[in-house]
Amino acid sequence: MKYMGSKRSMLLGGLGDVLERELVDCDRFFDMFTGSGSVAHHVAENYPVKVIATDLQQYAATLARAVIKRDKPLSFEEWVPTWIASAIARAERDPNAIAFANLQNRLALDKLPKQAERARQLSAASSSDFVRAYGGWYYSPWQALLLNSLREEANPDAAWFDVAVAAVVQAASRCVAAPGHTAQPFKPDTRAAPFLLEAWQRDIVAQVTVSASALCERHAVKKGSAYPADANAVARKLKKGDVAFLDPPYSSVHYSRFYHVLESIARGSVGDVSGTGRYPEPHLRPSSDYSIPTRSEAAIVELLDRIAAANATAIITFPLAETSNRLSGARIAELAKSNFRVVKTHVLSRFSTLGGDHKHRGARQDSEELIITLKPLQI
Ligand SMILES: C[S@@+](CC[C@H](N)C(=O)[O-])C[C@H]1O[C@@H](n2cnc3c(N)ncnc32)[C@H](O)[C@@H]1O
Repeated sequence: MKYMGSKRSMLLGGLGDVLERELVDCDRFFDMFTGSGSVAHHVAENYPVKVIATDLQQYAATLARAVIKRDKPLSFEEWVPTWIASAIARAERDPNAIAFANLQNRLALDKLPKQAERARQLSAASSSDFVRAYGGWYYSPWQALLLNSLREEANPDAAWFDVAVAAVVQAASRCVAAPGHTAQPFKPDTRAAPFLLEAWQRDIVAQVTVSASALCERHAVKKGSAYPADANAVARKLKKGDVAFLDPPYSSVHYSRFYHVLESIARGSVGDVSGTGRYPEPHLRPSSDYSIPTRSEAAIVELLDRIAAANATAIITFPLAETSNRLSGARIAELAKSNFRVVKTHVLSRFSTLGGDHKHRGARQDSEELIITLKPLQI
């Protein structure tokens, strides 16, 4: 799935080597800003190390947990077909199912503005909070109904629960009618209409099946855990011998503004939403000091102090130059000097500007990124 700031490509471009070096004598590996879980997955799947993945957002913990908490594959046949069949049956029992399916079958570019209006009217009358919130916006009503049914049919007591929810999160992210995040949906009466149509026609069931199948196969070498938490609180749990991977936000726009739909899926509930972005009120979305320019430096200083006090190692990735939250890789390396032995690796990377408006939508910039390894002074 697309995730702003994902380190998936950097794992092949230098980060993988740095991790390999530091994992030799590592007892536990903490991925404290796990996001899409790419680094937690990489370490857990390839090294005999216990991985603990955390993030402010619940969907991020779910994505990580779907792979790292198991040390064996899951059988696809044992649960996916039954789960998906019960979700489809649930969707088909919905009083609006026929109207939603009819609209889905007739979606066409020349009729899209009218159909989108109808999609919103139909969704607004649904008894499902999820369909009311996002149907006719980020998803067609039929897609929203299916996503909600799949989530509802995921049994929280089953061993496969996290894999099922993660598969729905991944599918929802791939099918969303927006440029990879959920800050603004594509509009039907603009040049974005073909993208809206293409997104609304994506097959939710096929996407979920593919994700569930891939996730079933994957597992950790050693069982780990993942849960939602603030990195600065998690840092209090570190001990000598631990490695903490830090990939904090580099934007002054909170992640929770961009990924609220995924959060609703992971939580299994949707609060009140409003406007065309369909996001909840700011006080209902996780807020991060790392995305507040006046607080970001104090937050990283506190985090580094706690890691140093534990005599643990840290690996940080951050753009070299100053970003919109007023942090920079250069400044972080400077701040760390008093507490750690600092080793810097430069890599070239492309990153999303996060929060580009319509004009800059999906804007990506080349950036020189630093991988900073911080070794404790007393070993
Ligand atoms: C740059 S992204 C991490 C990307 C991740 N490494 C990946 O490969 O997908 C930053 C993440 O930090 C999370 N975050 C922001 N503030 C946080 C905090 N105080 N504690 C923990 N996580 C936080 C955001 O939710 C976001 O997922």
